[in-house]
Amino acid sequence: MDNKSKAKKRIKELSNQIREHNYNYYQLSKPVISDYDFDMLLEELINLEKQYPEFVEPDSPTKRVGGGTTKEFKQVKHKYPMLSLSNTYSENELKDFIARINKIIDEEPEFVCELKYDGLSISLTYINGSLSKAVTRGDGVKGDDVTANVKTINTIPLKLRGSGFPDEFEIRGEIFMPKKGFEKINNERIEIGESPFANPRNAASGSLKMLNSSEVAKRPLDCALYYFLTENPPFDNHYDNLMNAKKWGFKISNYIVKCKNIDEILDFINYWNKKRDELPFDIDGIVIKVNSYRQQKELGYTAKSPRWAIAYKFKAERVSTRLISISYQVGRTGAITPVANLEPVALAGTTVKRATLHNADIIEKLDVRINDTVFVEKGGEIIPKIVAVDLSKRPADSKSIEFISKCPECGTTLVRKPGESIHYCPNEYNCPPQIKGKLEHFISRKAMNIDSLGEGKIEILYDNNLLNNIADFYYLTYDKLFGLEKKYLEGENEKKLSFKEKTATNILKGIESSKNVPFPRVLYALGIRYVGETVAKKLAKHYKNIDNLIAASYEELILINDIGERIAESIIDYFHDEKNLEIINKLKENGIQFSLNEDVVIKNYLNGKSFVISGVFKGHSRDELKKMIEDNGGRNLSSISSKTDYVLAGENMGPKKYEKAKKLNIPIISENEFLEMIKK
Ligand code: IVH
Repeated sequence: MDNKSKAKKRIKELSNQIREHNYNYYQLSKPVISDYDFDMLLEELINLEKQYPEFVEPDSPTKRVGGGTTKEFKQVKHKYPMLSLSNTYSENELKDFIARINKIIDEEPEFVCELKYDGLSISLTYINGSLSKAVTRGDGVKGDDVTANVKTINTIPLKLRGSGFPDEFEIRGEIFMPKKGFEKINNERIEIGESPFANPRNAASGSLKMLNSSEVAKRPLDCALYYFLTENPPFDNHYDNLMNAKKWGFKISNYIVKCKNIDEILDFINYWNKKRDELPFDIDGIVIKVNSYRQQKELGYTAKSPRWAIAYKFKAERVSTRLISISYQVGRTGAITPVANLEPVALAGTTVKRATLHNADIIEKLDVRINDTVFVEKGGEIIPKIVAVDLSKRPADSKSIEFISKCPECGTTLVRKPGESIHYCPNEYNCPPQIKGKLEHFISRKAMNIDSLGEGKIEILYDNNLLNNIADFYYLTYDKLFGLEKKYLEGENEKKLSFKEKTATNILKGIESSKNVPFPRVLYALGIRYVGETVAKKLAKHYKNIDNLIAASYEELILINDIGERIAESIIDYFHDEKNLEIINKLKENGIQFSLNEDVVIKNYLNGKSFVISGVFKGHSRDELKKMIEDNGGRNLSSISSKTDYVLAGENMGPKKYEKAKKLNIPIISENEFLEMIKK
């Protein structure tokens, strides 16, 4: 066989293998190979596809990484309109629904109860076993064609397994963001000064509507399917068709049950009303459907929804309490967030003392006042929020809240840009929480990763006038550090934190090794508003060094893919500020990396994967290995957690670490396996 035929055969083989591994991993949650081995197969396929683009399968598993940008989504008419469900919050109405059905249908109906996923609905069309189209609900008649974005969602099969599926069919379901993924991307947004998503549903919908599918690929989206639609389905009822679709590779909820009567339905509802907090994703109710298609047909539809199904919605847990006061927090970028201090009250398993009020507009809209009795809810949101005021209990002498006009920390007059709802403190260089926030960002893991410092230590250094901006880290000395101390309260006990010999040496060591951090991360560490990790990488790759970036014009910046007006404006503002240029010069003088070491970026074999090194190695020292990880685009972590991708183990790996890695299912790799990973 010549090379070309070999490549063609191998591409096919790899595509099938990877599909099967995806199915085992995402659908069955039972992977049969390690992440590392999987990554190797995928990489082999990516490389072969690059060399032989003529053999790329249209639904290749490499398509998951997303592709180009689109200006807008094409509108597509649904073959069958996408109706919604009638809703109820009351048991009695649910009983009426069952009674109505019993009246119309002669035989005993069978019901199917399902979780009501809180995301956005999607219609997927498969032709000859391949995903051909993914369309949002839109107005029910027409929706947006989001196929390119949907293809990046790992749990949606691009090509079906097995056989027996209709030549053409539609399957509908819900795209959602699991709670863990939601927390992660929100933390990342907060880190770069962007406002966090209010809840997982908004995050899912915002992600799916992004115009660049490679960006969507980075969002932790998931999809559960709950409605199979075709002219001649294999089975005559909803339940069997859904269960059957599992074997083709679809993700169907594990929590679907058949119920005979209202008591069984209520048992299911009550069970999940109690247990829903334990699910890894949000649900907002239970959907009850008539199982038989014949009976569904008999019951028919109203203009808006089927008569054979209903959604029982959970009431958001709501309590009332008193608003004691409002405090204002100042973030790293100067954004002011009003926070309500409440009389402590129990809600959804926790004691709530505070609730976010977001911004001045929200305060005005709610018209909350001090001493008001307010209703607090914990819905999809992680942080509880005030949803309304109990006006019947409003004290006669209450007054509207006037949003502060001066920064609560430094007294500077706040500014609010036209059209924006957030107030900012413009005193970037002298407002303590802004200074401390920037210092904390600079040392954070994804930035300079100086893990011998932390929030508490930064505070001591700041209080002692040793740190005022990010360049000051590089002027710290042993003598300045040794002996510093701070007293603080932990509960009722007074504690003392003091810098002894080891602390001081470790801090200096951490600062010293940050001089090896590559340029893209340094750029991120500067803390320019809206310049997150991804944007920093793009800018570094484009401009190669800081001087080119400083010289860049606004017009030039917005020509770069993914750099929008807001980011460009923020970069220009940052480098127009003499103080920032001064800081950059000081950092340069101290040997911080301000230009791209081409080797480092081209070799991104480890693609952000995180490693924990443990044990003693034959070929390299631990420091050498750490540097190799960094140089190849990986990250070093000091301890094993769910965030670790690989444990690089030498001889005498600690038994505790070994157990922890096993428990968390983290692949343990040898020095040789690691060298293979970076040998291309
Ligand atoms: S069935 C014609 N099943 O709820 C019936 N919908 O309020 C089609 N939803 O638009 C829908 N989980 O986005 C169905 N297990 C489930 C669901 C579900 C969530 C959503 C769906 C629908 C909305 C109706």
